[in-house]
Amino acid sequence: MLIDRSPGDLPEIAIPLSVPEVGGREWEYVKACLDTGWISSVGAFVDRFEAAMAQAVGVSHAVATVNGTAALHIALMVAGVEAGDEVLVPDLTFIAPANAVRYLGAWPVFIDVDPLHGQMDPAQVADFLERGCERTPDGLRNRSTGRWVRALLPVDVLGHPADLEPLMALAEAHGLALVEDATESLGAEYRGQPVGSRADIACISFNGNKIISTGGGGMLLTRREDWAARARYLTTQAKDDAIEFIHGAVGYNYRLGNVAAAIGVAQLERLPEFVTRKRAIADRYRIALQGCPGLEPLPEATWARSTSWLFTMKVDAEAFGMDSRGLLDFLRKRAIQTRPLWQPMHLSPAHQGCASWHIEVATHLNRVCLSLPCSVGLKESDQTRVIQALHEAHRIGTLK
Ligand SMILES: Cc1ncc(COP(=O)(O)O)c(C=O)c1O
Repeated sequence: MLIDRSPGDLPEIAIPLSVPEVGGREWEYVKACLDTGWISSVGAFVDRFEAAMAQAVGVSHAVATVNGTAALHIALMVAGVEAGDEVLVPDLTFIAPANAVRYLGAWPVFIDVDPLHGQMDPAQVADFLERGCERTPDGLRNRSTGRWVRALLPVDVLGHPADLEPLMALAEAHGLALVEDATESLGAEYRGQPVGSRADIACISFNGNKIISTGGGGMLLTRREDWAARARYLTTQAKDDAIEFIHGAVGYNYRLGNVAAAIGVAQLERLPEFVTRKRAIADRYRIALQGCPGLEPLPEATWARSTSWLFTMKVDAEAFGMDSRGLLDFLRKRAIQTRPLWQPMHLSPAHQGCASWHIEVATHLNRVCLSLPCSVGLKESDQTRVIQALHEAHRIGTLK
């Protein structure tokens, strides 16, 4: 089904949702690539970006990839997921992690999210593993599909970490790998530790709307040297002998290029500043929305220090006077870009026929949530415009 969101006679977007902030040493580093001719993936900025990311997140190994989806694909491979296996994926996520599971010929099982923070719900994971699966000497088998369950794939959505410790305990108790999609939450903390530092392997994306961007790019992060070596091998065509062109496996051309990595190094230098700015934007929205009945920002969990990468609120149609999609259209007519959450995965035509486990919350959050403009470079006057437009929408909505 195609939804018509063509601009028609609408004004051009004046206040975008979240765009990259470029203004540090990107130019200097990219110029260094061009001046030296090192523009391919063997340039020094790739190694430098990996080392800086490993240090920033507090893991020993980082492997740069062309994008976050490629990082997920390879992470699942090195974690041992094979064709026909199943991987638990939250129902409310951008589609990439579910797609990465399918690239391997494996199957996602969609798990509901918690109602407060919209993250994969450990209680639902536990329920599925206990009641939906049977333990056998060879591993855990899904009772309804008969497939082996191999891994958990929590996704830290919207700048906020998933509740990792109960998921880690479940993974350990059931012999499952834990692959964390930390793509949207670089710079956030889980119980005082950087997001991406605790799972067996974590993935990051640096696409255009992420907190730091290389235009396109991704990274695998792990403490396991053997997994990092395998990931590096698979992302560079599985080359055993570079002179004789001998390849020991079917590999991938997934390595990040030097120009993108140069941008990444410059962006990463400013990550703490970007996180501070995102949080300040979120704080201002939170205060402003207190005076606007029916708009409720998603809260920060006790275990979390969120980056508020995408500031997201619930819209109570009755109290606010307009539902989330009505508000989206109202703001769009004022050239303000907002975004609902993703279509729940169990409803996605792309993943029709995949298994899911008692989904309710994800569908509700998809219906009521909306993310507001929160670029690092959002001007104070533009944020004021957004806040005023929200109040106006409430006034008009409750006049009817
Ligand atoms: C949660 C999540 N995972 C994976 C990706 C994919 O990253 P990329 O676009 O770099 O392939 C994205 C965003 O695009 C994402 O939001």
